[in-house]
Amino acid sequence: MTDTSLYDAAAQDWSGFWAKQALALDWYREWDTIVDWELPFAKWFVGGSLNVSYNCLDRHVDAGRGEQVAFHWEGEPGDTRTITYAQLLADVSRFANALKGLGVRRGDRVAIYMPMIPELPVAMLACARIGAAHSVVFGGFSADALGGRINDAQAKVLITADGGWRRGAVVPLKANADAALEDTPSIEHVVVARRTSGAQGAPDVEMVEGRDRWWDELVAGAGTDCPPERMDSEDLLYLLYTSGTTAKPKGIMHTTGGYLTQVAFTHRYVFDLHPETDVYWCAADIGWVTGHSYIVYGPLANGATSVMYEGTPDHPGKDRWWSIVERYGVTILYTAPTAIRTFMKWGSTYPESKELSSLRLLGTVGEPINPEAWVWYWQHIGGGRCPVVDTWWQTETGAIMISPLPGATVLKPGSATFPLPGIGAEVVDDRGDGVKEGGGYLTLTRPWPAMLRGIYGDPERYRQTYWSRFPGRYFAGDGARVDEDGYFWLMGRVDDVMNIAGHRVSTTEVESALVDHPSVAEAAVVGAKDETTGQAIIAFVTLKAGQEADRAHGEALRAHVAAKIGPIARPKTVIFTDDLPKTRSGKIMRRLLRDVAEGRDLGDTTTLADAAVVDEIRRRAGASADEE
Ligand code: PRX
Repeated sequence: MTDTSLYDAAAQDWSGFWAKQALALDWYREWDTIVDWELPFAKWFVGGSLNVSYNCLDRHVDAGRGEQVAFHWEGEPGDTRTITYAQLLADVSRFANALKGLGVRRGDRVAIYMPMIPELPVAMLACARIGAAHSVVFGGFSADALGGRINDAQAKVLITADGGWRRGAVVPLKANADAALEDTPSIEHVVVARRTSGAQGAPDVEMVEGRDRWWDELVAGAGTDCPPERMDSEDLLYLLYTSGTTAKPKGIMHTTGGYLTQVAFTHRYVFDLHPETDVYWCAADIGWVTGHSYIVYGPLANGATSVMYEGTPDHPGKDRWWSIVERYGVTILYTAPTAIRTFMKWGSTYPESKELSSLRLLGTVGEPINPEAWVWYWQHIGGGRCPVVDTWWQTETGAIMISPLPGATVLKPGSATFPLPGIGAEVVDDRGDGVKEGGGYLTLTRPWPAMLRGIYGDPERYRQTYWSRFPGRYFAGDGARVDEDGYFWLMGRVDDVMNIAGHRVSTTEVESALVDHPSVAEAAVVGAKDETTGQAIIAFVTLKAGQEADRAHGEALRAHVAAKIGPIARPKTVIFTDDLPKTRSGKIMRRLLRDVAEGRDLGDTTTLADAAVVDEIRRRAGASADEE
């Protein structure tokens, strides 16, 4: 277990503390300056050079640990693969050579749109090896969403698969990719991994002559020797697009040395990792930042053995996760509160029918965890013996920021406890003054190694979004409360970003998808409280004249949003209304709509242009709730 000396060391010299953590990595050249901070732009380990794939693979193999398992992979249909560090190094090197053969060079961007199969981390590490930045797009996103991200990044190559398994059905990734590629002039080649071709019910895949290549055929001719590029500490490692308060997703930029330092440090200390003996499972999808940092880069940098699973928790039965824990002897499990609340709903028979005694540490991420779910997780999954670490962070922070250190921090169910050693976090009020006890806005007070370096192609949006609300501080977009013992309690987003089952969805993005439908005049979207998924998407829609406001129309609009963005953005409820409540300046009053959706009192409505609209919406909301 971690001791409290880390807190003391960081309190004395925070940048020196991070430099010490950076020494856990292998550098070709050590840095001249630990941190260069010109608010809001930070550079870490300036002048240092290293390679991420070397740190994740070669150095473990060189140290005689090539036979250690990197991934116990399990597909949803039940097929399995065991991949050692030596094999992973060979696969990555071969694929890196194949990418070079397709013309990918240091500094290029490569888009990745894949299911949870081993080829996904292989593709990411191959990019890192040759100095190309990857942009992974979650396999649940639509063709439109993929195309937009490819164009923003000007990606040269797209790596995808024929399909992926989800609840026994095939997700047609290549078909989606083909639709996206109708309008992505930067793409020169597409590499397609085989996953579902030939399986029953799998759609045929069309390969475009000269553009598309099968993964297996491409690597068959590639050599396993691919020397890693010496990258600058500040070279771009990846882009990951996340939702903001406008309809256009932000390409969050993460670089090399600082990012790897903090993901490796946090993975080791927050999870109290013993790489030789632990079997670690992060049940996220690599399409989100959690998977980037805590399935791929953190665990591999530390030489850990991980479980990686392709499918959903209820396929073929509701005990799927627990049979995985039993089969591999998982010791550390990291998941989201929505999953925990879903298991609570299913009842304790499922975990109890399996042997879970291998578990010794549990983690949670992505949304606030209610104390009830925390305690259930601790009791029914952890058997009352495993510490639960609630970890707060974001795509932008790159790595865990606020979390207990097991053994060193006294836990409180539902609290992420304290900022990690080396991290400066403070809750402030409207004016930006520190709150010693009570509620306010979460801010970060100094740079951290894994921080985003910007928004790709838009430095002004970076400055505006994160650094303008409270001068000199990073504004996270989250509300938080500090209790009498100084513990942090995260309260959810305070901006127009929703958090659905731990996934970030922008209200404006869903609104644009709705008004894109020919029948819609206007739309307003809010995230309303939901018992399982934290929040649910509720859409208020005004139709054009002559359009029928009936259930079938609501269904059509829900399907339209799913097709435009992806199934995660599908509204739970569509409420038709003749008008939307607006302030005198014409701004939609989302807070009021959220109150309507949550069935609360409306509070002060005097800023309404037309107060009558509220009653109308309320009546419609009531009627729609009855229908559900
Ligand atoms: O609102 C916070 C919530 O998730 C947001 C970040 O979402 P994303 O960038 O997709 O990254 C999710 C995985 C790191 C935050 O602004 N959030 C994340 N972790 C927690 C959380 N809210 C409360 N408690 C957490 N532990």
